[in-house]
Amino acid sequence: MNAGSVQLVRGFNDILPKETVSWRWLEGRVRHLLEGYGYQEIRLPLLEATELFARSIGASTDIVEKEMYTFDDKGGGSLSLRPEGTAGCVRAGITHGLFHQRAVQRLWYSGPMFRHERPQKGRYRQFHQMGAEAFGIEGPEIETEMLAMLARLWSSLGLQRISLKLNSLGTPASRERFRRDLVDYLGKEHDRLDADSQRRLHTNPLRILDSKDEGTQALLARAPQLSDYLDEESKSHFSELCSRLESLKIPFTVDPHLVRGLDYYTRTVFEWTTDALGAQDAICSGGRYDGLVEQLGGPQSPAIGWALGMERLLLLMEVERQIPQEEGPDVYCVLVGQVAERAGIRLSERLRDQVPGLRMILNMSQGSFRAQLRRADRSGAQFALIMGENEANAGVAAVKPLRAPAEQIETHWEDLPETLNRLIGSAEDQRQS
Ligand code: HAM
Repeated sequence: MNAGSVQLVRGFNDILPKETVSWRWLEGRVRHLLEGYGYQEIRLPLLEATELFARSIGASTDIVEKEMYTFDDKGGGSLSLRPEGTAGCVRAGITHGLFHQRAVQRLWYSGPMFRHERPQKGRYRQFHQMGAEAFGIEGPEIETEMLAMLARLWSSLGLQRISLKLNSLGTPASRERFRRDLVDYLGKEHDRLDADSQRRLHTNPLRILDSKDEGTQALLARAPQLSDYLDEESKSHFSELCSRLESLKIPFTVDPHLVRGLDYYTRTVFEWTTDALGAQDAICSGGRYDGLVEQLGGPQSPAIGWALGMERLLLLMEVERQIPQEEGPDVYCVLVGQVAERAGIRLSERLRDQVPGLRMILNMSQGSFRAQLRRADRSGAQFALIMGENEANAGVAAVKPLRAPAEQIETHWEDLPETLNRLIGSAEDQRQS
């Protein structure tokens, strides 16, 4: 590398043209699905007041304590790059009175999120989420519909190595009782906990349930269990959800140690994970957060949502060989000699008027017939439109199929729109069959 070149920031990625094809395709699929279920897009700022995240995600969570990109604004006050989308979405709903205007809101968003974590495969400092939030629905019918929507997404993407884990965290009051007993119990075993869990015992003890350390896991097996602390209403909400999922034949496992790393959750939490990507196995996660809207100054409004990590989903699609093939243009214009080149630009502009949606690349910087035809092939185009001086003077061009062993057809300029429409249409049909 050139010693003087400026480097990419660690944990940040460029998404190159060969990758944006699958990004755009996937974004389109998710958007289509969300809109099919009545979700409306909301676009939110990348920067928010730091306080928003401290008050929603929780001041003693890893995200807020260690991972945010935070700085002082020029005019004073602390700002942070958003580490996730839920807090901003709730803030926007309150700012614009959305929760007063309509009892039920279904919103979706997408874009970059920022967390200063240790980068590794599937974990980046700038990553991209697509997420959905539904406000104003109390019962488990919304959990059921959201999970059915996601199950539909995975199967439409051809994914198999993804499975659903569920848990209920109960109400803040029941969780607090559990937390106290857990801290009591683990406090007595302090020296046998791993170092991370020892630290969490005083900051965020529920996250100890997530620990991968075997010694800590052994202690947890004999520790108080969250499910024994659930209030009756949370219990019946959860069992109703489980039975609805069973009736829709959506497989899931109940994972009593699933607590999630954000404080705003109440009752249902879930994670879709994969065994195909190693440590960063969560593809899509979410849950219910019935208290957050009110806690941030809005009206009481039950809420639930999820976000999927685009990078991880694309990695999984690659492992499962479900990434769509990159498509070339419809036509590459091979223009040999100056006369043809000049006529070619006029002809091509006319064709763009006459054939809406035509994807066409003009050869630039001249080159021999053979060199241009090689470029046409490399571009991935379906057809070459070929013109030399003789053709240009006669007002004709040859259309040569590049992906099928068919003859080239000489066509008058005025017949080209019809010929191209027909050929492109049947090439498209063949690709899809
Ligand atoms: P989260 O679990 O923190 O939840 O993130 C959601 C998803 O974002 C994860 O399942 C993962 O796929 C992806 N993700 C998270 N961190 C990274 C990273 N450093 N690099 C790559 N991908 C990552 C939330 O963000 C909640 N706001 C979800 C939610 C919405 N809950 C309710 N509504």
